[in-house]
Amino acid sequence: MARPDISDSPDDWWRSAVIYQIYPRSFADADGDGVGDLAGITSRLEALADLGVDAIWVSPFYRSPQKDAGYDVADFCDVDPVFGTLDDADALIARTHELGMRIVVDIVPNHSSDQHAWFQAALAAPPHSAARARYIFRDGRGDSGELPPNTWQSVFGGPAWTRVIEADGTPGQWYLHLFDSTQPDLDWTQEQVREDFDAILRFWLDRGVDGFRVDVAHGLVKEEGLPDYTDEQLIAASIGDTTAPSPHFGQEGVHEIWRRWRAVLERYGADRILVAEAWVEPLTRMALWARRDEMHQAFNFGYLMTPWDSGALRAVIDASLDAFSRVGAPSTWVLSNHDVVRHATRLGLADVPPLGHGVGRDTPGLPETEHGVRRGRAATLLMLGLPGGAYLYQGEELGLPEALDIPAQARQDPAWFRTGGERYGRDGCRVPIPWEAQAPGFGFSPTGASWLPQPDAWGRFARDAQRGVPGSTLEMYRSALALRADLALGTGDFAWVDAPPGVIAFDNGATRIVTNMTGEPVTLQDPLLAGEVLLASTPLEGSFEPDSTVWIRRA
Ligand code: NOJ
Repeated sequence: MARPDISDSPDDWWRSAVIYQIYPRSFADADGDGVGDLAGITSRLEALADLGVDAIWVSPFYRSPQKDAGYDVADFCDVDPVFGTLDDADALIARTHELGMRIVVDIVPNHSSDQHAWFQAALAAPPHSAARARYIFRDGRGDSGELPPNTWQSVFGGPAWTRVIEADGTPGQWYLHLFDSTQPDLDWTQEQVREDFDAILRFWLDRGVDGFRVDVAHGLVKEEGLPDYTDEQLIAASIGDTTAPSPHFGQEGVHEIWRRWRAVLERYGADRILVAEAWVEPLTRMALWARRDEMHQAFNFGYLMTPWDSGALRAVIDASLDAFSRVGAPSTWVLSNHDVVRHATRLGLADVPPLGHGVGRDTPGLPETEHGVRRGRAATLLMLGLPGGAYLYQGEELGLPEALDIPAQARQDPAWFRTGGERYGRDGCRVPIPWEAQAPGFGFSPTGASWLPQPDAWGRFARDAQRGVPGSTLEMYRSALALRADLALGTGDFAWVDAPPGVIAFDNGATRIVTNMTGEPVTLQDPLLAGEVLLASTPLEGSFEPDSTVWIRRA
């Protein structure tokens, strides 16, 4: 019987695609102000075609006060001047297509910026008015409404409610913000909100985008009555655990919205896609976002969060293949993005801090750079050997570790401010990437300016220092993507292979992928490794070293 997750139709490109995430602030800066921009991205796109990715996903570049690096959107249908203009967006879309790649853009439907005209109108309008109904305004508790309406906490720390001053100058209602206080949550029970977002989808589809990465796709619908947290939920919220059951994440009602969005996309062709950012557990629940009439994909955060442990990895791969195939979708795989510690650092940590807390120089158990990069490379080759879709985050193809030495005064993440510096937040994975070892700002910006400081030692990771250098991380990624396409690994048949404890081995079609996580070398004469070596994350010289992955054409 044909596998439900395989198809030859070009519309199904996404089922095996490698999609590269661009974080616009930090990719390439054309105008020299130290913040990346759309013209910068367009000017550097050839490097991504050269890398061999199928598509790019571009994080928000919409008009925004940038309180949460663009995830606080003040106009969903315009480009922020810091990133350029709508013409620049059109040029980026056109050039991406010209180079044979697709382009997916971010959409942020859970909240807007507090500077959005909708929210400004809501503030100016009286309580219980139609303008306020777009958002989640409630009266406070306590004798004079001085207490928040419920116990919910912001993902960035502190209460999820802020009280407004009414037109008459007195303290009034409270509004809900699951993230920063500058990101009020929209009320998706309102038909007006649904219609507005249909129009926003069409606006970008009309401009030619191939799909959307949907921000906080698990959060739009809140439990009726906005009940207080249970004790268990309160603990989960206080440690930033967004995957635990909660009254505001993973509510059943969100699925209806995705069916509606799917219908909007289908009118533009069956090749337009939706990918969910849905932090829910277990994987069987996450897979519900990727049902045939909802989204196409969901980021596999269960895989991303798995520590460097062979048993845990086997289990999550099994669970992923099983959960997604039940809904007729391929699994996705991802190791890094703009919200998590880069995997070249994270996988070497003794204890990984909770999501969004980040790491700094004084975090205990940090790996040596060499060790971290080596493990990161092994993890990448393992991931790219799996069937399904894969997501890469800018800079991982250079082997970038997390930036650890960002001074307090340079930090920008709201999580840092809302916790009084208790959480480092996500700045360490957002530092502008190095292009040219000898240029100012490592070629990120013509002036050398950079909105977050780049570590002095990053010249060695620069793209021009690695391109054409055998064994470099960049060349490893290029070879892996070319082989993955040639060998059709994205749609291959997966089967585990028996291996000693601490070794992961599986066949993907005629290719065998083996990862040594034992901490000891494995002898190359082992029958497990018989065949022609196609690619290795660490040179194979007499033995197969720990923290290495090898791709073999089976004998
Ligand atoms: C998830 C995004 O990836 C993150 O960067 C952002 O802070 C939150 N959603 C809020 O939009």
